[in-house]
Formats: sequence, C-alpha cells, structure tokens
Amino acid sequence: MPHPWQASFISAAAPSAEGDPAPYFRREFEVAEGLRRAVLRVTALGIVEPYVNGVRVGDEMLAPGWTSYHHRLMVSDHDVTGLLAPGANAFGAIVGEGWAVGSLTWENRRHNYADRPALCAQLELHFDDRVEVVGTDESFRVGTGAVRANGIYAGETYDARLEPDGWNRSGFDDSGWARAVPFDWNPETLQTPTAPPIRRIEELAPKAVLESPDGRTIVDFGQNISGWVRITVEGEPGRTVILRHAEVLTPAGELETETNRTAAATDRYTLRGGGEETWEPRFTFHGFRYAEIDGWPGEVSPESVHAVVVHSDMVRTGWFESSHPLVNKLHENTVWSMRDNFVGVPTDCPQRDERLGWTGDLNAFAPTAAFLYDVRDLLGSWLRDLAAEQEETGDVPMVVPDVLRTGSTPTALWGDVAISLPWLLYQEYGDPGILRAAYASMTAFMRKVELMLDEHGLWSRGFQFGDWLDPDAPADNPAGGKTDPHLVASAYLCRTTRELARAAEVLGETEDAEHYTRLAERVRTAFRREYVSQAGRVVNESATAYALAIMFGILDDDQLATAGERLATLVRKSGFTIATGFAGTPLITDALTATGHLSEAYDLLLQEKAPSFLYPVTMGATTIWERWDSVLPDGTLNSTGMTSLNHYALGAVADWLHRVVGGLERAEPGWRRIRISPKPGGGLDSAWAAHDTVLGRAEVAWRLDAGEMHVDVTVPEGATATVELPLHPDRLVEHVEGGEYSWHYPASGGSGPDDITMDTPLREIQRDAAVWAAVLDVMRKHFPGVPIEAAGDHLADMSLATVAARLPEGADALKRDLKAALGQLSATDAGRQA
Ligand code: BGC
Repeated sequence: MPHPWQASFISAAAPSAEGDPAPYFRREFEVAEGLRRAVLRVTALGIVEPYVNGVRVGDEMLAPGWTSYHHRLMVSDHDVTGLLAPGANAFGAIVGEGWAVGSLTWENRRHNYADRPALCAQLELHFDDRVEVVGTDESFRVGTGAVRANGIYAGETYDARLEPDGWNRSGFDDSGWARAVPFDWNPETLQTPTAPPIRRIEELAPKAVLESPDGRTIVDFGQNISGWVRITVEGEPGRTVILRHAEVLTPAGELETETNRTAAATDRYTLRGGGEETWEPRFTFHGFRYAEIDGWPGEVSPESVHAVVVHSDMVRTGWFESSHPLVNKLHENTVWSMRDNFVGVPTDCPQRDERLGWTGDLNAFAPTAAFLYDVRDLLGSWLRDLAAEQEETGDVPMVVPDVLRTGSTPTALWGDVAISLPWLLYQEYGDPGILRAAYASMTAFMRKVELMLDEHGLWSRGFQFGDWLDPDAPADNPAGGKTDPHLVASAYLCRTTRELARAAEVLGETEDAEHYTRLAERVRTAFRREYVSQAGRVVNESATAYALAIMFGILDDDQLATAGERLATLVRKSGFTIATGFAGTPLITDALTATGHLSEAYDLLLQEKAPSFLYPVTMGATTIWERWDSVLPDGTLNSTGMTSLNHYALGAVADWLHRVVGGLERAEPGWRRIRISPKPGGGLDSAWAAHDTVLGRAEVAWRLDAGEMHVDVTVPEGATATVELPLHPDRLVEHVEGGEYSWHYPASGGSGPDDITMDTPLREIQRDAAVWAAVLDVMRKHFPGVPIEAAGDHLADMSLATVAARLPEGADALKRDLKAALGQLSATDAGRQA
C-alpha cells in the first residue's frame, strides 16, 4: 500500500523563458534513529535529476519521460535507505525544461504543458511505529547552478564554474536562494510508471577523430544513435567546449546539420579548471553519429570522448541473421532505428524538431518492434495516453502525446493504430486483458470512421496520409503518391473492421462482433465495387494498391492469381526498385510471397539501386532512412526538409525477414501455436531467427550446405509448431511440441515445378526431367542458336537468374515465359495426382 501523497508541486517564482538556467531545489531535514526504510518518490514537469546527500538517486535519465502529462504524469520510486543517516540530511533536485516546458514541434512552441519547470517529490521515512514524510512545499529553496540553459532540441549549456559546491548536501548556505512557490498541478495525474525507464544503455568509443577540410575536429562514432557525448577534458577555467551533433557529413566532409532542421543540437561546457573534468548533458538528447568539437584545449584524443546511447530500457526479444551481409546490415539498421526512436515515446525520429509519437510510423513498424523487443509495457502505456487524449477530444491524435495545434481527424494507418496496435499486442502476448483495456478506444475510433463512410461504405471523405512517402510522390507533398489516399484508407478499413470484429469476439461482445463483421463485409463489398475488376485487377495498378488488396483479404481466391501476377509484373517493371511508401512497404514482400512470387520478393529485397531496401546500406547507412533516397547517390542530402536518416517505418520489412526468410511466425495469440516455414531464396545459404515469446525461446536456423538442407528448431514448452521443411523433396510437414529438433536432407531445390525460383541452380533443375525439358524449351527460345543443352554441365552451378542476366534485352521476358511454362507443368502435375 503506497503512502498517501502529501507533497505539492513547487517551482521558481517566474515563468521560464528560452535559455533560462534550470532551477535547483533543495531542503534539509532531520532523520531520527531507528529508520527502517526510506523511499523517494519523485516527478516533475520537466526533466528531474534527484539527489540525496549529494548522491544522484537512481539511474533513470530524462525522467519522468514523456506522457500525456495533463492526464498521466509518472512518479518514480527509489529506495534511498542507504543514502540516509541519523541527523541532518539533504534532498535536492535539478529540473530541466524537458517536454513539459521547452520547445516542441517545428513551430518551436514552448510551454506545452507548464510555463516553468516544477518539482514534486516526497521522501517517505519508515520507522517501526510511523512514517514521516518530507514533501516538496514552500519550505524548499530554489536557486540556480551550472545548468545555464537546456532544451530537448536546443541542447544543454553548462558552466562548471557556476555549480554551487555542496548545494545538494546538508550544511550548504542557501540563504541567497529564493523560497520555492507552489505550482498548480492536478495531483490526480500522478501515476506509477508501467513502461521501462530511459537509461544509458551503451557507450561507443569513436571510430575516428577527423579533421575536416575547414580544419574542424569531427568525431565519428560509427553509428547513428540517440543520446549524447560524454567528455573528459582538462584546461583553463572559463574555456568553453562546444559540441554540435549531426547524422551525416557533407560530401566535402563537413558537419551536415540539415536533417536536424531547427534543432540546434548543441551542447556547451565551460571548464571549471584545475584538473580533469568529466561531463555529459542530462537535459537533452541528440540523434547523431558525428559530433563537431570546438574550443577543445589541444587535440581531441579518442579516449576523451564517448557517445552515450540513451533510450528506454527494453528487453531484447528478437534476432535475425542470414548469409547475406547487406541484409544483415539492413536488419541491424532496423534494430538501431527502433532503439533510437524508443526514448520513452515511440517517435518518428530522434534528431530534428519533431521526435513526436507519430501514430502511423509506429503502426507500420509495430509488428517488427514487437518481435525485436518486449514492448508490452511501453506501448501499453502509450496506448493509455492515446485513449486519454482521444476521450478528451473525441479523436485519436496524429501524434501521441498530442502537442500539435491542428486538430486530428480519423485517418488510416495513423489513427487506426488505436485498433491495430492493441490487436497486435494481444496476438504477441496472448492476453485478452490488452484488448479489454483498449476496447473503448478501439470502438470509439471506429464509430468516428463509420460516420465518414459514403452510402456504399467507402471511406471516401476527409484528409488521409495515403501511401505516405511513396517515392513517386512530389517532394513537397509526401501524401500525394500514386495510390489514391481513399483507396488506401478503405483498404486499411477492411483490415481494422475485421480486427475489431475478432477483438469483440475474444471479449465476448457478441453484438459488437456481429456489427463489425457486417461492417467489414460492407466495406469490402464497397471496395470491390469501386476498385477491383472481376478478374482481380485493382485500379491505380500501383504496387501498394495490389499489396493492400492481397493482404487485407479483399480479393476472392480466383482473383488473387491475377492480382499477384500484376503486382509481380509491376515490381519487375520497376526493375525491383521500390515503389511503395509507409502504407505499402510493410506488406509488399508478403503480398508477393502469398501469391507465389517469392523470387520477386527476394529481388525486391536485394535490389541495391535507389530507391530500394539496400540502397541506404550501400551508402553506409547505420539506421533506416525516412525517405528511400534521403542521401542521394552523389552523397548530398535530398533537401526536401523531411529527410531524416533515422525513421523506423520503412524498416517494417524486417517483419517479413523474421517470418518468411527466417521462418518464425506466430500462428495463435501468445505463440501457443507456431508456424515454422522458412522460404529460402535470393541466393541466401542460411538464415536464423529467434524470438523470446511469452512461453520461452522459439528459434529456427536453416542452412544449405552442398545441396544438403539443415534445419534446427526450438519450440518453447507449452507451444506446438507446424514445421514446413524448406526445399524438402517430399515437402514434409512435421507437427511438434516443446523441444529441440533437427532435420537434414538433400534439398530438392528445383525438382518440382513449384519449387523453382530464379535462384535455383540449373543442377537442381536437371533432377526432374520434365521440368528440365520445360526450362530448356524456354531457354532455347531466348538464346536462339546457343547450345544450352550441351553447355548444361558447365552452367550447372549457375542460377536461372545468372543465366538470364546474360540476355541483352533483360531477364523479364524470360522470367515470364519460365513462369508460364512451370505453371502449366504444375497444373498438369496436380491434374495427374487428382
Ligand atoms: C513525420 C512522419 C509523420 C508525418 C505525418 C512527418 O514530419 O516525421 O514520420 O508520420 O510527418 O505528417
């Protein structure tokens, strides 16, 4: 039972202006003999750094994090028993501006929640017979110290000469400090956090200390991170070291700060002098890989600077690796973009004047996030903020917590995170309580959307983000891509109506379940009437339109083949460069896979020419970029004003890597049933995916070695798994329970017409005479006069793709003919068996 809250909020007397020093609060108190236990419970409007008797309390950074403060403000509990002793003791805290007070959004608006930093804390001293409370009130004093200025976007200015010695210990003379004044804040907002705190997670030593052509010192930490730089420096008092942060260098090798937009991202440290000094900022964070250092006494040595990686302290639960180094790097970049953007709130980016909880970015990325890390508590807490703000205004905000001045209206992918995220978290963790907690928010969102439908049931009105950042959208209008935004909206509505119907079913809300099932059917019918031809073409004929129609259950079975074929043709036509934005990218590789175009899915994955998944990797990216070509091939920035190098949304393809390349897929909520079905391709020889599910570790590793397939599987106790053994000559499917299993067998590779991809070596195709004959026929047509048959031996190790690449007119026509020939063969095969 927590002790009743007695403390009140306190602040300095005047509102804070941009660039004001941070308030330091302090009070001394007596501790009697017989103290059993002491707990400090602390929060702030701003960022709080608490001290007891001169010792920094706890290891949380940027506390209390960012929530929808006027509904929910988090209070951290710390056991401080060991820091207290009988007699005089002191409590102190510095409160920076943080999200509550400082500038937010590209409008750089201040005072979004409070007009000055305010502190609220109570120290509970537990004795055998009583609890004494030292709570913040007007008996506290407030002054200033070394923290001269601070802002999340701006950075921190610290003058070590101005730190009052001993301000946070007893015996300090605070007679020159002012009395703290009460600050009005509703105590009912105070809550115990459920999300993990933000901490320093890792430190990176410099990869290089560079001298730029302009003679500037730039440290390259080798990785785009969120956090800051810690310096150890020795020099004369009053000297100021300036650190400017950036994600990238200009082609000439100077610091390129354009991706920060108006965020100054600059820290300043003024030396106290008289020996070595170590410092790091604590009231800001930066998204950066490079730091330019100015004013350093002498030369910067690599030992004197470290990058401190700072983000929510989540437990890692998912891993992936393959034999393809660029794919591995793509995956690693995805993990980093997730880490860098989970600083309390799941954000769009960590560097520029946003760092906002954009709902659509998270919705696109959430399946990947839930595989990589345990996000239940963090996203659960974020969903509570979403619901609280939705209840206040009636709409799901575009960013949560909402600090935008423009109101929000219901949108697909962005707003409908209110439905898809709880549904996903329920799938991942298997707890219907997640749905119950979110149900009011889910249904409230859908009720709003229902009001926007036209007479047929299409979502054809109102603003939509559409297929945001479709690479073909005009630079100044990311929502203006190829695919009609209302087609995107209605397609997503087909998904969310069904998710909501199923959620209602799980919760026993029978009437709702029936209502939403009917609504789902109505929207699907309307979509098909408006956008789908009888044969299965989807108007717009864009990759995104097809991907959505295929993946959201909109098409009939007999339309899927046409749609899949059209999608594959589009993908081939664009030379396997990407043509989708936030809405289509998470689904396109799945849509290709589901319609029998695995080889195109791999070709899309492995393309290196821009725009593509791997282009940024070839350009040295260490995180996922906001735009497919945030950095142009000549190394200059795509200067559209919206070109962060650290946006996780397009990293959503990692979900496909986990499920299809690795082969690890959840088949029932909470991983009670698992589908293990790796689909080798793309010339990969191996892949490994592992996930710590709520039941325990699930893992698949497959490896192709000299024609032998090795598959190792771990299934957690309490789960069952269907294992579809990849490239098995008899297409063996095993059903197993918890345990570890291994199989190895000669890989069938290309022996059946269905198994052949463009990556299948000719040697494997030759194993099946009928298939080989069909392939030869096609080859002869495309290589007239070339004795393919005779060259068979010498070509045996080459894949179809390698052979096809020799065609002067390109491989597309050959691929089409092969597909048709093999399709025909497969149909005859099936006919024979039936
Ligand atoms: C953000 C995006 C976001 C979008 C929507 C951008 O500025 O960075 O990722 O979803 O705005 O308007």
